[in-house]
Amino acid sequence: MEPINEQLVERIDRYIEDLFVPPDAALSKNLEDADSAGLPAIQVSANQGKLLYLLAKLVSPTRILEIGTLGGYSTTWLERALPADGILITLEREQAYADVARRNLERAGVDSKVDIQVGSASDSLLRLIHSGAQPFDVIFIDADKASYPEYLNLSLELSHPRTLVLADNVIRNGNVMDDHPADIHDHGAKRYNEAIAHHSRLESIVLPIVRKRIDGLAISIVR
Ligand code: SAH
Ligand code: DHB
Ligand code: MG
Repeated sequence: MEPINEQLVERIDRYIEDLFVPPDAALSKNLEDADSAGLPAIQVSANQGKLLYLLAKLVSPTRILEIGTLGGYSTTWLERALPADGILITLEREQAYADVARRNLERAGVDSKVDIQVGSASDSLLRLIHSGAQPFDVIFIDADKASYPEYLNLSLELSHPRTLVLADNVIRNGNVMDDHPADIHDHGAKRYNEAIAHHSRLESIVLPIVRKRIDGLAISIVR
């Protein structure tokens, strides 16, 4: 891959953040807390968080599903697109991460809207489907990339026409363009892109996201 001008990319990201993402105590406390608890710093950027929030808000959602909670940073952004009686279910495999997220959402005073379900996301999705859960208006996929195609299929079972389906990390520095990516996460993201591109129930695009690496956000609307 060609090198990208990291310094310029960082300055532009900062420029956008300074203009459009005012300092926010709940969000910065969330990042500090996740850091002191030793969580990996793999959450969406502030600018991506704002983008997720705006995209979700377009849908006027009352029910949001997130797959991959980590410390609840993107959860906090998405929750803000909900009305007071909205609900957000977020799925996380690691109990320790879910505990950090829970503390943060409690401190932000939004924990009553957010249900963190701990366990493998596939199991949680199947449980939601079999328990007859109401469909979601927005679904954000951001857990292990190897399982993205499976998460897509299960998510569609939990969707309705016009559900917005978003997925983070679908470009992976361009690795998804390899014919046969060796890495299972690159492979999963590649298969996800192909699935949403050709799916009879979806209209989709991928938006490149340039940071230190080039990644992308998949955006789909259920027909
Ligand atoms: N959405 C978060 C970042 C999520 S990072 C944010 O932007 O703030 C990906 C998360 O998915 C990690 O917390 C990881 O523990 C979780 N994860 C990975 N595999 C999983 C699985 N099979 N089931 C549920 N969660 C999983
Ligand atoms: C990584 C980044 C992500 O946005 C994510 O959801 C998972 C992992 C990473 O950089 O490893
Ligand atoms: Mg991600």
